[in-house]
Amino acid sequence: TTLRVAAISGSLRRASANTGLIRAAAKMCEDSIPGLVIDHVDIADLPLLNTDLETAGGGFPAAVEAFRAKVLAADCFLFASPEYNYSISGPLKNALDWGSRPPNVWGDRAGAIVSASGGSGGSRSQYHIRQVGVFLDIHFVSKPEVFVKAHQPPAKFDARDGDLVDPEIREQLRELLLALQAFALRLIQGKLAGSD
Ligand code: FNR
Repeated sequence: TTLRVAAISGSLRRASANTGLIRAAAKMCEDSIPGLVIDHVDIADLPLLNTDLETAGGGFPAAVEAFRAKVLAADCFLFASPEYNYSISGPLKNALDWGSRPPNVWGDRAGAIVSASGGSGGSRSQYHIRQVGVFLDIHFVSKPEVFVKAHQPPAKFDARDGDLVDPEIREQLRELLLALQAFALRLIQGKLAGSD
């Protein structure tokens, strides 16, 4: 079974370390994790959430429709999140909220979180994503927890583009992807067994 992972970066910066983690994950899956494919889902074009933009028939603006379709089509999720003021970034929360509008497109699938951030490595943002996931019915893998202290030397990301250069973080990312794959497969196989 090939599982498609919708990967979302909570940072819109061109040289974002979090987007760099998604690129590294995508390449790793291509090269050496059979059965897992990463699709980077860009959230930069989503309007700020405003339910006035929804039509009476349950329609959404085109960028939101396209985003929701990608989320719905995914087998599982990878979030790469910066920490902003001890929490989730505004762009990521906006994307989570658009996907939650009825019908919720996040539900009943596995997710994994990685964060690149300042001092804490983004742990507080990760726990806030987990909290939001309770209501959205995203089931997160618990371990390994990957908190990347992006700005501590030695450099973990290439300063120009935000490409991951640290071999230890790369290994942690691999462990996380393998855990996501195993957990997502368990959820999907459980569902299939239940429907017999
Ligand atoms: C931050 N940063 C930050 N870091 C952290 O560890 N805890 C925090 O509470 C905050 N707060 C915060 C607020 C705002 C508004 C900004 C812009 C930044 C630092 C931030 O997480 C760090 O620069 C990350 O590297 C940003 O991720 P990208 O853009 O490199 O993916």
